[in-house]
Amino acid sequence: MYLYLHVENICNNSHSFPGIWRNHVVHVIKYAKALARKFNADEDVCEIAALFHDYAGILNPEYYNQHHIHSAEIASQILRRINFPDDKIRNIQHCILSHRGSRNIKRKTIEAEILATADALAHIENPDSLLQFAEESYEMSDDKAKKWVLAKLQRSFNKIMHELLDAIKPRFDATVKKVIMS
Ligand SMILES: [Fe+2]
Repeated sequence: MYLYLHVENICNNSHSFPGIWRNHVVHVIKYAKALARKFNADEDVCEIAALFHDYAGILNPEYYNQHHIHSAEIASQILRRINFPDDKIRNIQHCILSHRGSRNIKRKTIEAEILATADALAHIENPDSLLQFAEESYEMSDDKAKKWVLAKLQRSFNKIMHELLDAIKPRFDATVKKVIMS
């Protein structure tokens, strides 16, 4: 509970990513937990990795470009302080480090596959918040924002675990259509 309150607080004080807690992080956690149960993975690892996966970029926009590295490091420092088991911390670090579609870091655990998939599903579920983010935080024009969102959605789709690609494709296609028509 302390961890949730801590991260929620960081999110709600962010000027660069307004609404990121309720529009994104809680959905990534929701999907990560559901997928952990579906694939018999470590639910604690998936949940905490989801909680912290974007943490550093939210805490400090200067970390955004390398937020996978900084978030993994900060999460492990916080978890060590509360005596979280070492093997779980290592897996959480790996999940966060390898979750981005824009970075070519091989995912070596089922929990890492799950975090990347959960992040992708949250984006596909809520393209409006991506559009809003592009327009408000990056100050992009409508057209540029749409292009950026479509590229991000494609990267999201590409990082979904293979087992789920067919099931998610119709939802992905509907989201892409919605963005194009918006
Ligand atoms: Fe994310």
